[in-house]
Amino acid sequence: CILMYWINNTRSHKNKVDRFLHKMRLNDEQLNDISARFQAEMKKGLSAESNAAAAVKMLPTHVRSTPDGTEKGQFLALDLGGSKFKVLQIKVREDQGIRKGGVEIEEKTYPIPNEVLNGRGTELFDHVSESLKDFMHEKNINPKKKHPLAFTFSFPCEQPTLDQGFLLEWTKDFSVRGLQGKDVVDSLRQAIKRTGGMDMEILAMVNDTVATMMTCGFDDKNCEVGVIIGSGTNACYMEQLNHVDLVEGDEGQMCVSTEWGALGDDGTLDDYITEFDREVDACSINPGKQIFEKMVSGMYLGELVRLVVLKMAKLGLLFDGRVTNALRTKGTITTAHVAAMEEYKNCLGHTREILESLNLSPSADDCIAVQHISTIVSFRSSNLVAAGLAAILTRIQKNRNTRELRITIGVDGTVYKTHPQYPKRLHKVVRRLLPECHVRFVLSESGSSKGAALVSAVAQRLASRKRQTLNSFKLSWEQLQLVKARMRAALQAGLKTDGPSEVKMLPSFVYRTPDGSEHGKYLALDLGGTNFRAMLVNFKKGLQQNTKLYHKIYKIPLEIMQGTGEELFDYLAQCVGDFLDYMGMKNTRLPAGFTFSFPCEQTALDTVSIQLTLWTKGFKATNCEGHDVVDMLREAIKRRDEFDLDIVALVNDTVGTLMSCAYEDPQCQVALIAGTGSNVCYMEEVKNIENDADFSKMCINTEWGGLGDDGTLDDIMTSDDTEVDQNSINPGKQRFEKLTSGMYLGEIVRRVLLNLTIRGLLFKGYVSEALKTPGIFETKYLSQIESDRLALLQVRSILQHMGLEGTCVDIITVKEVCGAISRRAAQLCGAGMAAVVDKIRENRGLDRLNITVGVDGTLYKLHPHFSRILQETTRALAPQCDVTFLPSEEGSGKGAALIAALAKHMQ
Ligand code: BG6
Ligand code: GLC
Ligand code: GLC
Repeated sequence: CILMYWINNTRSHKNKVDRFLHKMRLNDEQLNDISARFQAEMKKGLSAESNAAAAVKMLPTHVRSTPDGTEKGQFLALDLGGSKFKVLQIKVREDQGIRKGGVEIEEKTYPIPNEVLNGRGTELFDHVSESLKDFMHEKNINPKKKHPLAFTFSFPCEQPTLDQGFLLEWTKDFSVRGLQGKDVVDSLRQAIKRTGGMDMEILAMVNDTVATMMTCGFDDKNCEVGVIIGSGTNACYMEQLNHVDLVEGDEGQMCVSTEWGALGDDGTLDDYITEFDREVDACSINPGKQIFEKMVSGMYLGELVRLVVLKMAKLGLLFDGRVTNALRTKGTITTAHVAAMEEYKNCLGHTREILESLNLSPSADDCIAVQHISTIVSFRSSNLVAAGLAAILTRIQKNRNTRELRITIGVDGTVYKTHPQYPKRLHKVVRRLLPECHVRFVLSESGSSKGAALVSAVAQRLASRKRQTLNSFKLSWEQLQLVKARMRAALQAGLKTDGPSEVKMLPSFVYRTPDGSEHGKYLALDLGGTNFRAMLVNFKKGLQQNTKLYHKIYKIPLEIMQGTGEELFDYLAQCVGDFLDYMGMKNTRLPAGFTFSFPCEQTALDTVSIQLTLWTKGFKATNCEGHDVVDMLREAIKRRDEFDLDIVALVNDTVGTLMSCAYEDPQCQVALIAGTGSNVCYMEEVKNIENDADFSKMCINTEWGGLGDDGTLDDIMTSDDTEVDQNSINPGKQRFEKLTSGMYLGEIVRRVLLNLTIRGLLFKGYVSEALKTPGIFETKYLSQIESDRLALLQVRSILQHMGLEGTCVDIITVKEVCGAISRRAAQLCGAGMAAVVDKIRENRGLDRLNITVGVDGTLYKLHPHFSRILQETTRALAPQCDVTFLPSEEGSGKGAALIAALAKHMQ
């Protein structure tokens, strides 16, 4: 009877509270509704268009994979933003004595004085770095050595990279001045410098949710979600990269820190908010912000309970209407109190003690009611977290296109760790909301810093791998100036006829650029890359725009490129025959210009004795070097005996390009080819050339690709460059060209990737047959890999084509290797170009030179960054020249036809 009375009495007190707090008691339908709202908010935050206006920021973290078991190293770590500020030392699988796969952690908590929490940014970080120094001293850590540092910073930050974090705003109880919008990693770095006596490399900054996910992911590879239910609340998860609009790339995953604490900041949760939530918010240091967090996290739960108790007392529903000052005072009921009150084992003992400490004299009924208030408030918290997690898991489920999801959630935070009922309740509700998911919850026993260290370990490995290899392709400003000076000296030396020169400076016998008076029909032939072009051009006097062009392209098979000279020229004659057939002009004897893009010794523009000096690029047809190539073509035409041709001029492709561009822009006095090969020609003063022509200028084909053939570039060449040179068909020749042109860049990339793989630093050390095959990495891949639009998806498919399956990290490395090599190529061309334009300026005795450079070549035209870097470097190294780069529209063939017209005119 007594028991029945007690049960009924308890029930009635609980009912009273239930009625009073009915809005806080959320049923599954409501939780599903909240979950759906959060899903919509996540979408909004992920999309580039709506992110700015989204309350839930969905911050990309640049953590692309969970631990894979290969992480190792020794790190110092800082854990700032939870209820405790800690400095740690973490050893992951390094020293002896640690079991395989083990982690050793030493830590110390440093209190943060209140005045620092509300002071200036510099003071906060000075405190942080002084604590770090104290820790090093206490643990006997060598201050002279450089130490890698992992930084857990538990506030919303925008991260352009893993080691940068721009603070969006403070949350929880931090309100430090002067840091919002700033890079906190940089602020920390500055503070460490101010403190002095330590050498730190901050490798990664991570949110506590991310670090928690990584900590738990160390032991459970299914862990793809991290949650904090502590002073604050937040969750992160692995999202498909193609859904993360704010980060370039499509392939793989990236961890996103949802910052779900801000759910409701735009009113999304208004119908679930009670008067108590409003009051907590109004009295907080960030009113209107972190609405969801204020309903959920440890910083606010005690306060919510206090406000409910106070209100009920005031209404006479508790303590016979008595209210004490202590109960009126903010902060007198803490989340720890809430947890203690809900220790049911202790019956109502804790509740009574706590209420008495607030000078209240609670009856047994009051204690039952207050305990029940605590339960409702903390239950609502775990229910809301469950709804949030349901939203995240549903998203992952959709991403993976599966109903049966097996996933682990890493959890940390004082509420989850210390509240006796919280974990059980949370797990139960999540499983009820998503019955088809197999969800495992893992408590992060060792805090978040282990995870931060794991992220840093990956960053460190990547960084050192990158440092070694990529640095060897980086050119300093001094080195670029040196290259410019060497090119300048080589141009000068090449102009002197006595003795051999690496840069040949071949006279072209073209004395002027076109003036628009050219007219008539001409045939142009163009040999030099992988294709042979035949072209018919019809010039109309003074009507540059109306020039008519017809052309046909013929691919040159490798066996022809590298067969006998006779076979090569027979093939060319056959193509010309086909073209004339196609144009119906086989019976006309047209004047022809022949663009032949290899170094040739000429004695006049017309075709008297033109000798091929040496093959470059992929050509090595026999019996051509030292021979007159025009003669060889004439012979082949004769052998064919189908048509006749009047070959009136032979020009290099650079010269053809110069003519073609100068036809449009008279300022054009230089031409550059950045394609399969690399070369430049320009208008030189005749007085500087040993030549007795009556003209003032002559176009010189520099053949700058030969720079370095005497060893002058050895200091910038890497071992990969040397390997490419040694394995080419012309070892020791065209060294500058081999660093700068399309024929070789892909091959350098392949060598670098191969060597990284052999050293176990890429593709898990797996060397595929394809990767061992010279020439497989075509330079067009470089352009594709580096073009932002296609990003990682393209890289992955190119690698697959080579039989390589890379992780995300591998793919990024490949992209960076391509970037480093093409950047160096563009810079070297820029340095060479600066030497050329400065020479022209000095030739003319000018302080400033305005000049146009005609450009052609696939590298220039197709690569996404080459032209920009080339231009930037030229401008920086030749500051007295205003250089305009003009891409050639029609290729050099039209230029050859123009020269044919000039030659005809001279004849
Ligand atoms: C700790 C983590 O265990 O939990 C911190 O190491 C994290 O990084 C904290 O911020 C969150 O919980 P609380 O309760 O301390 O805010
Ligand atoms: C706050 C912070 C968030 C952090 C969470 C848990 O919500 O904004 O970054 O993860 O607290 O500490
Ligand atoms: C090679 C040739 C050169 C040509 C250049 C661009 O360097 O030697 O003559 O201009 O390639 O095609």
